Amino acid sequence: MKFFIDTANVEDIRKANDMGIICGVTTNPSLIAMEGRDFKKVIKEITAIVDGPISGEVKATTVDADGMIREGREIAAIHSNMVVKIPMTTEGLKAVKVLNAEGIKTNVTLIFSATQALLAARAGAAYVSPFMGRLDDISMKGIVLIGEITDIFKTHHIKTEIIAASIRNPIHVIDCAKAGADIATVPYKILEQMVNHPLTTQGIAKFQADYRAVFGES
Ligand code: E4P
Repeated sequence: MKFFIDTANVEDIRKANDMGIICGVTTNPSLIAMEGRDFKKVIKEITAIVDGPISGEVKATTVDADGMIREGREIAAIHSNMVVKIPMTTEGLKAVKVLNAEGIKTNVTLIFSATQALLAARAGAAYVSPFMGRLDDISMKGIVLIGEITDIFKTHHIKTEIIAASIRNPIHVIDCAKAGADIATVPYKILEQMVNHPLTTQGIAKFQADYRAVFGES
C-alpha cells in the first residue's frame, strides 16, 4: 500500500515528502479553505514539491457536469500530475466519462458504498476514494467497505486504484493495508503518530546514556 498525504498545507507536504514516505497528495474544498489561500497558487506549490498524483477538487458549488468538465480541464492544465477530484453524483459520473476520454485522470470522492465505487470505476475513474472515518462516525464499519471494494475490483480485474480516505488513526492505516487498499491518504498528524513508538524513544535514550557513560560526547 502506498501513501498520499491528505492536506493542502504546503509545509506539512514538504515535511512528509522529505521523509520519502509519500508519493501523492489529496486535497478537498475544506482543506483548501482551511489554508485561506488561492486554490491555483496552493496547487502549483504542491506540484513543485511532490512528483506524483495531486488531487485537486472541482469547486464545491459546481454541481453540473458541464461545469465540472470545464473546471476539470483547468485543473488538469495546471500540471501533468494533476488528478481531478469529482464528487460521486450522476453529474459527476458524466464529467468523469468526458474527462477520461480526454486523457484526464479523475478521483471520484465521497464514496460510501461498493456500488458507488463500481459505478465510478466503470465511468472511467483512475481512483476512487472511500471515506473510512466518516462511516465509522455513524457506526458503520468503514473497513468493511474497503474490503468489499478491494474484492470486487480484484474479481473483475478493475484497474481503478482504491484510495482509503478519511483516515483518523494508525489502526485505520493497518486495517486498510490488510484489506488491500492500493493507497491510504493520511493527514500529517497521523503520519507522525505512525513514526513514533515509546519503546523507540526509550531505546534511543538508553543507547545515548550508555554511550555517553563510556565515551562522553565524542
Ligand atoms: C479524501 O480525499 C478527503 O480529503 C479526506 O480523506 C476526508 O477526510 P475527513 O473525513 O477526515 O474530512
